[in-house]
Formats: sequence, C-alpha cells, structure tokens
Amino acid sequence: MKEFIKVKDLYFKYEEEDGQESDFALRGIDLTINKGEFVAVVGHNGSGKSTLAKHFNAIYLPTTGDVTVDGMNTKDDDRVFDIRKKVGLVLQNPDNQIVAGVVEEDVAFGCENLGVPPAEIRHRVDEALKAVDMYEYRQHSPDKLSGGQKQRVAIAGIIAMEPECIVLDEPTAMLDPRGRDEVMETITKLNRENGITIILITHYMEEAVLADRVVMVDQGRIFLDGTPREVFSRVELLKQHRLDVPQATELNYKLRGCGFDVPDSVLSEEECIEAIMKLIKG
Ligand SMILES: Nc1ncnc2c1ncn2[C@@H]1O[C@H](COP(=O)(O)OP(=O)(O)OP(=O)(O)O)[C@@H](O)[C@H]1O
Ligand SMILES: [Mg+2]
Repeated sequence: MKEFIKVKDLYFKYEEEDGQESDFALRGIDLTINKGEFVAVVGHNGSGKSTLAKHFNAIYLPTTGDVTVDGMNTKDDDRVFDIRKKVGLVLQNPDNQIVAGVVEEDVAFGCENLGVPPAEIRHRVDEALKAVDMYEYRQHSPDKLSGGQKQRVAIAGIIAMEPECIVLDEPTAMLDPRGRDEVMETITKLNRENGITIILITHYMEEAVLADRVVMVDQGRIFLDGTPREVFSRVELLKQHRLDVPQATELNYKLRGCGFDVPDSVLSEEECIEAIMKLIKG
C-alpha cells in the first residue's frame, strides 16, 4: 500500500496566552496512514486526538517533528493549499459547519472557495449529495434536518472538494443512535466504494471495530496500533488506559475470566452468541 500521511516523532505544545509553559499535548507520535485505509483513532478525553487530527491538514504545525501528506511537509507554506485539498476535516458539531440556508448551496461552499468552475460545482454537488444519500433534500433548509442528516450534508461539502482523505473528529458524538448509524454507513461506503482514506476519531468502540485499523492514544502517545481484533484482545491494557472495549468483547472476556472456553477475543454480538452457543451445545 502507498504511504499517504506520515507523522514522524511529532511533539506539540499549545502556546499559553499568559506566557506560562504548558505540557506537551503530543509526545513523540509516529504514525503512517496508507492510501485507502480506514483508521480509527481512539483515546480518553484530553489524550490528544483532536490535536493530532489538526496536524493532518496543517491547521496545527509540529513543535518538533514532521507531518507529511503525500510527500508534502505541512510546514511548507507553499503546499498548505494543496494539502487542504487532499485532506478534508469534518468536526463534531454539524451546526458549526453549515454556512448556507439551502442544502445544495452549503455543499457548494467549499468548492467555490477552491475556485472550481460553476458547471463542475453543479456536477460535484449532485454527486456528493447522492453519495451521502441526501440528494432529495438538496433544496431543503438545513435547519429542518435531523442531526444525522446535517452531519451527512457537512460530509457532502467535504466530498465535493474531492479530497483523497477525510478526517472526522467525533462526527457522531452529538447524534442519536439512528444518526450515528447513518453517518457510519456513509463513512464506510466512502472508504469501500470510493476508495477515500478515512481517519475516524471516536469514543465509540463499536465504531472503531468497523475500521481496518485502530490506533489507541493516551497522554499524547500511541500505545496500541493494530487490527480491531488485535487491539481489542488486549482488554487489560485498554483498561489500564481507562478505555472500554465493545460490549460483546467485554462479555467474552468475563466468561474467559470465569474459566469458560471461549475465543481470545470477539468483536461483535454475532461472534459472542456463536461462542456462547458452542459452550451450551458442547
Ligand atoms: N486550544 C488549546 N489550548 C491549550 N491547551 C489545549 C487546547 N486544546 C487542547 N488542549 C490540551 O491539549 C491536550 C489534548 O487535547 P485534545 O483536545 O487534543 O484531546 P482529545 O483527545 O481530542 O479530547 P476530547 O476527547 O475531549 O475531544 C489536553 O490536555 C487539552 O487540555
Ligand atoms: Mg477532541
């Protein structure tokens, strides 16, 4: 797989307004994201996830170390525009990302800023709205949409700019379970069908399980990086870092602790049921 984003020995410290020294928010992050991957970044509150996310499209620059996007260093002023074209960022609150009074105008906004010709914008907006399954709402006012629908419109605005990678910082945190499912389905589809590289920052372990790879952070460092199955088999290590595991994984882990012969790790309810049925039958 081709390397896309490369983070090398990244340390980052926020500037304090009162001139006081603050602690490093990121301390020695090394991470390579390959083209086409779907990576979940998980960590406790304040572990540095959002700070890291903002390094992926040059909103923040390393205090020391380097971040490159498709070979372009984020510290290179001349490349910031190109980097932001390649890496789009979706934030937590859809209300803060909606700028226009009509859905399709909102989706067009980013493209207009990029100077895309009007006929091309029309085409891109329609395709982006279809990709997130919001085409029939194109003439609606965003105010009247549900949280999940608004977040999908925000994602469409990013897709219309045709990025190669989308970074989503807790995009489902403010949504109800239905909105959360809608957004997760959209993200998964963009990765699988359109080949867009996805970096999903999330608190929800059930969402992380859907990724190809899970990166766990704590106190500005990565402490685990692997497939969901690898990562969620380390239940004890995760608990030491005050992190949960998916419910099905937790139940399986407890059964194992009681001496039952179940697999090392299960990720879904289906797998958990299968393991328990085997116990009952055998
Ligand atoms: N603008 C800022 N100025 C100073 N310190 C900050 C700022 N933003 C974040 N921090 C600090 O940097 C550290 C990492 O914060 P960050 O927001 O990246 O964590 P997070 O993992 O995204 O947390 P959450 O799950 O709450 O979104 C924390 O200690 C936080 O207090
Ligand atoms: Mg955050």
